[in-house]
Amino acid sequence: MILLVTGGAGFIGSNFILYWLKKYPEDKIINLDKLTYAGNLDNLKSIEKNPNHLFIKGDICNRDLVNSLIKNNKVNTVVHFAAESHVDRSILDPAPFIKTNIEGTYVLLEAAVKNKVAKFHHISTDEVFGTLELNSKEKFNEKTPYDPRSPYSASKAASDHLVRAYHITFGLPITISNCSNNFGPFQFPEKVIALAITNIIEDKKVPVYGDGLYVRDWLYVTDHCRAIDLILKKGISGETYFVGGLTRDISNLDVIKIIIKLMGKDESFVQFVKDRPGHDRRYAIDWRKIKNELGWSPKHDFDQGLKLTVEWYKKNLAWWKKLKNAKFQDYYQLQYA
Ligand code: NAD
Ligand code: DAU
Repeated sequence: MILLVTGGAGFIGSNFILYWLKKYPEDKIINLDKLTYAGNLDNLKSIEKNPNHLFIKGDICNRDLVNSLIKNNKVNTVVHFAAESHVDRSILDPAPFIKTNIEGTYVLLEAAVKNKVAKFHHISTDEVFGTLELNSKEKFNEKTPYDPRSPYSASKAASDHLVRAYHITFGLPITISNCSNNFGPFQFPEKVIALAITNIIEDKKVPVYGDGLYVRDWLYVTDHCRAIDLILKKGISGETYFVGGLTRDISNLDVIKIIIKLMGKDESFVQFVKDRPGHDRRYAIDWRKIKNELGWSPKHDFDQGLKLTVEWYKKNLAWWKKLKNAKFQDYYQLQYA
C-alpha cells in the first residue's frame, strides 16, 4: 500500500506510523504535517532513516501540494489525522480549527476524488455526539445524532459530514472512525493525562476543571491504531465505526487520583480550577459494531495503559521537557490564570 498519512507527526498519527511500518514494512508512507505546536518529529526518530517513510512539511489546506503528493506518489490510501485537536484552544481561538479541520478536509477530499484514491479513512471523535447524562447507562453508538458543543467538535462534525457527502455524491470510498479519548506515549502535555503526569514530575499541581466529576471513555493509543488497521483492511466503504476503551465510568478526579498514587504522591497535588465553558459531562462508547463486524476489541485496560503511560513519561523527560517551553508557559498562563 502507498499511504498518505496527514498529521503523522502528532500524537496518534505518529503512533500509527510506527505501528504500521513495524507491521507492514514493505508499505510506503507519505507523512504530510504542518508541524504546528502539536507536531513533533522527535516522535518519529526511530524511523528517520527508513526509506519507506517520507516526511513532507506542509499544510493540508495547500491544494497544489496535496494534489501533487497524491498524484506523484501514486497514493492509494489516505489516512486523515491532521487537525487542531485541543478543545481548550478552540475556545481561546476557533479560527485555525475551522481552517484546518473543515477546509483542510475538503481539500483532501477533492484531491482524493480527482486522483481516484481507493480508500479514504477519516479519523474523528466521539465529541461530535455531544454529552451524556452522568450515572446513566447510555452510550454513543453509530446511530447517535450529531450534537457538537465546542468549536473543536463542531469543526470535526463538519468534516465528518463532508467525508460522508463525498462518498454519497462523488462515490469516494470512505470509512470514518469516531473514537474516544486516547492516551499513551507521545501525547502533547496539554491533554489531561499527559499534563497531570508531567506536572507531578515537575512538582506542580494538577488543574482539575469544575467539580472534577466529568467522565471520559479512555483508549490506549495502540489499541486505536489496531482498530484503524482493521478498518483499512476489512472495513466496508461508506461505513462508520465507533472505537472505545475498556473503561468503567471513571471521573476525571479519580483519574488524577490514580495517577497521583501511581507516582507515589498525595492528594495535595489536586488543584480545582475554573471549569471549561460548555464542558461535556460524560462520554461513553458502544463499540460492539467494530467488535462484531471486524473482530476488534481493546487489549489494554485503563489501569494497565496508565501504568505504561506513567513509565513512558518518566523515562522520556527530554521528549516532553522541550515541549513545556516558553510558548507553552504563555498558553498555560492564559488557560489557567
Ligand atoms: P495532535 O494535536 O497531537 O496532532 C495533530 C497533528 O496534525 C500535528 O502533528 C499537527 O502538526 C498536524 N496539523 C495540524 N494542522 C495541520 C495542517 N493544517 N496541515 C497539516 N498538518 C496539520 O492530535 P491527535 O491527538 O494526534 O489527534 C489526531 C486526530 O485524531 C485528530 O483528527 C483528532 O480530532 C482525532 N481524535 C483525537 C483523539 C484524542 O484523544 N487525542 C480522540 C479522538 C479523535
Ligand atoms: O473524546 C475524544 C477527544 O478527547 C478528542 O477528540 C480530542 O482531540 C482530545 O483532546 C480529547 O478531548 P478532551 O477535551 O476530552 O481531552 P482533555 O485531555 O483536554 O480533557 C479530558 C477531560 O479532563 C475533560 O473532561 C476536561 C478535563 N480537564 C482537562 C484539562 C486539560 C481537566 O480537568 N483539567 C485540565 O487541565
